[in-house]
Amino acid sequence: MDKLVIEGGKPLSGTIVIQGAKNAALPILAASLLAEGTTTIDHVPNLLDIDVMLNILRELGCRAEHTGGTVVLNTETAHTSHVPESLMRQMRSSIFLMGPLLARFGETQVYQPGGCAIGERKIDLHLQGLQALGAEIEELGNRIICRAEKLRGADIHLSFPSVGATENIMMAAALAEGRTTISNAAREPEIQDLQCFLNAMGAKIMGAGTDTITIDGVQSLTPCRYKVIPDRIVAGTIMVAAAATRGQVTLQNTKPAHLSSLIHVLRRAGVQIVVDGDIIKVGNATRPKAVERIVTSPYPAFPTDLQSQVMVLLTLADGVSILKETIFEGRLKHVDELSRMGADIRVDMNAAIIRGVPRLYGATVEATDLRAGAALVIAGLAAQGKTVVEQIHHIDRGYDRIETMLSRLGARISRYLPVPNN
Ligand code: EPZ
Repeated sequence: MDKLVIEGGKPLSGTIVIQGAKNAALPILAASLLAEGTTTIDHVPNLLDIDVMLNILRELGCRAEHTGGTVVLNTETAHTSHVPESLMRQMRSSIFLMGPLLARFGETQVYQPGGCAIGERKIDLHLQGLQALGAEIEELGNRIICRAEKLRGADIHLSFPSVGATENIMMAAALAEGRTTISNAAREPEIQDLQCFLNAMGAKIMGAGTDTITIDGVQSLTPCRYKVIPDRIVAGTIMVAAAATRGQVTLQNTKPAHLSSLIHVLRRAGVQIVVDGDIIKVGNATRPKAVERIVTSPYPAFPTDLQSQVMVLLTLADGVSILKETIFEGRLKHVDELSRMGADIRVDMNAAIIRGVPRLYGATVEATDLRAGAALVIAGLAAQGKTVVEQIHHIDRGYDRIETMLSRLGARISRYLPVPNN
């Protein structure tokens, strides 16, 4: 398996343009199934997860090309609504194909996506939402068969503001008969981007970004061309890397409003942040200050997807910080790896108590999930000496050649491919 080798201790400096958002592009690609014809989506990053989604769409009969950041997707030839188990297991968020497939074909067959390194990843809220719209759901082992002669609008309350469940319901309700309201809906920017995309295809959706979304079903939707928002988690990852290496980095093509909770935390840590339109400048010449208490919660609160990255900054801070993970029950696995680099972290239930140390030391560490892997790269950049990060396929799911991105900012980082056994 590929590895990343990092020679730490060098401050990042320079300018970087942020890639399109993985977590907006994935549901938008799925939603393209709702309209027959050719949809074009710009600003789609080259990621393993995007490749998996395109392979699933091809398996369903679509024609898909991804060139130079643009996906051209012809859904006219889609002829089945059964998603292969092997492909579903590669990316659990493919569960939000259920909504568009059900709306287009009247039935779909998917598989329980199963848990992962960060948690159980239940889908009960997805299934409850589709049932409320009139779907009949049959679970045979890990196979899920979903049928609906006609989807009808309903008032749906989510017991938890699940991002994926909100997206699945929005997509299914777009072609349902009548009005659907989703209360306690997720408010993430990627939900707002999905609403904009669906409305560009002729849907009638309002309220994304608030906790109540209203969808008035329409007869049909029309293919369109659409550009995906910038990836706030990739931007946040770079911002933390700049702060942790005491560098000076300018990020272009960002939406600062999507990062306000991170900007607030970094400023509390003493990091200099300047916002100017779609540009964010991050500078940090001194040792960061500890941040007393950070709790991950649904947007617009501090995002779980930046928890592991900020933890690295706090391991180097002057003082004791507490970082509490409330979204995923298994999202503290990077603590063990950071401890091997000299971090002083104690875990109590779902909270990490982080006592800052003057420096980290390079080591061989293993990525356990996408964002934990990105955090270990940041730790390697800040550490003294050499760090080898293994299992980096996790990182490639969400970062478009992370070593190229960081090398352009002066990092000493290379990807090593395994030597084939000949
Ligand atoms: C989306 O996952 C993102 N993925 C995740 O990003 C992100 O961490 C998460 O939202 C939270 O912001 C994509 O958008 C592709 P949820 P999703 O449904 O939709 C529980 C990354 O690193 N839950 O909001 O799966 C669930 O177990 C990834 O890019 C139920 O109980 O997140 C979890 O504890 C990781 N029942 C919590 O809600 C359900 O039916 C959050 O899940 C659904 C979810």
